[in-house]
Amino acid sequence: MNPPASVHVPVMLDEVIAQLRPSPGTVFIDGTLGGGGHTRALAERVAPTGRVIAFDRDPVAIARARTELATLPVRIVHGSYVEMREALDGLGIAAVDGVLLDLGLSSDQLADAERGFSFTAAGPLDLRFDPTEGQPASEIVNRWGEKQLADAIYQFGEERFSRRIAREIVARRRERLFESAQELAELVRRCVPRRPHGERIDPATRTFQALRIVANDELGALERTLKILPDCLKPGGRAAIISFHSLEDRPVKQAFREDERWRVLTKKPLRASDAEVERNPRARSAKLRVAERI
Ligand SMILES: C[S@@+](CC[C@H](N)C(=O)[O-])C[C@H]1O[C@@H](n2cnc3c(N)ncnc32)[C@H](O)[C@@H]1O
Repeated sequence: MNPPASVHVPVMLDEVIAQLRPSPGTVFIDGTLGGGGHTRALAERVAPTGRVIAFDRDPVAIARARTELATLPVRIVHGSYVEMREALDGLGIAAVDGVLLDLGLSSDQLADAERGFSFTAAGPLDLRFDPTEGQPASEIVNRWGEKQLADAIYQFGEERFSRRIAREIVARRRERLFESAQELAELVRRCVPRRPHGERIDPATRTFQALRIVANDELGALERTLKILPDCLKPGGRAAIISFHSLEDRPVKQAFREDERWRVLTKKPLRASDAEVERNPRARSAKLRVAERI
C-alpha cells in the first residue's frame, strides 16, 4: 500500500535555496528527505544533469518519495545521514556542492498515529524514525532506572520536573507497563504544574522530545556528521542546517566556528519570516545556519 501524500510544509525553503544556490549540473545531499519538499526544490534546479542524494531513516518517507519524486534526478537512500561519506564513495562521487540537514521530525510522522510521535494519539509509544532499528521509547520508559530516566528527560527535554516525572513513571509501571503514547502523555501532564497564564505547548512535549532524541540517538548522529561534513563538500560548497531547539543548534554553531575548514556565512542564525510563521507555525523555532567549505 502506498503511504498517504505528504502533509509536511518545508521550512525556510526560499532561504535554503538562496544559500545553497543549486544550478543545473550541481550535486546536493539532502540528509533529511522527510516529505521531500526541500529535495524536490533542489532537484528541480539541478536537473537535468545534476542530482540530489536524499537520505531518510524512515521507511515510510522513503516509500513515499520513491513515487512522488520518481521523475526527478533524486537518488534515494534509506539510511542515516551519518553514512553520507560512505554513500558518496559507493556512488563514485568525491564531493558535493551542498548539504542540507533539516533536523527533527516531519509533520507526516506526527500525523501517523502508529508511530507514537503524537501524544494525543493512542498509537504505540515508539518514537523511532526507523522502527526496524534500536529500541522503541516504550523500552526506555518501561526498563530504565529512575535516575537514568530523570537525567535523560532533564538533559534532552530541558524539563524542570524531570525527577517527579521519572518517579511517577517508575511507580506506575510497577502496576502496568506503558504501551501507548497517550498513557505517558497523561502521566506527564499530571506531574507538571500548569503555568498561571497557560502554556503555549503541551506539557508532555519536553518529555517526548527527550525520549525521541534518545530513541534515535539524534544528538550523537548530528555530532558525528558535523565531523565528516567538510570531507563531503567541494571547496566553496555549502552546508545549511536547520535546527529546532538549542540542543541541536549549539553543536552546529560550535562546529562551524571551531573547525577551520569552515567559513561561517550566518553570524547569527537566519529565522523564518513573520509571514512564514503565520502560514506554518512549525517555522517559529527554526534556526538556519550556513557555512562554506574553504
Ligand atoms: C524535519 S523532517 C525533514 C523535512 C523535509 N526537509 C521536507 O521538506 O519535507 C526530518 C526528517 O529527517 C529524518 N531523519 C532524522 N534523523 C535522521 C538521520 N540521522 N538520518 C536520516 N534521516 C533522518 C526524519 O525521519 C524526518 O523524516
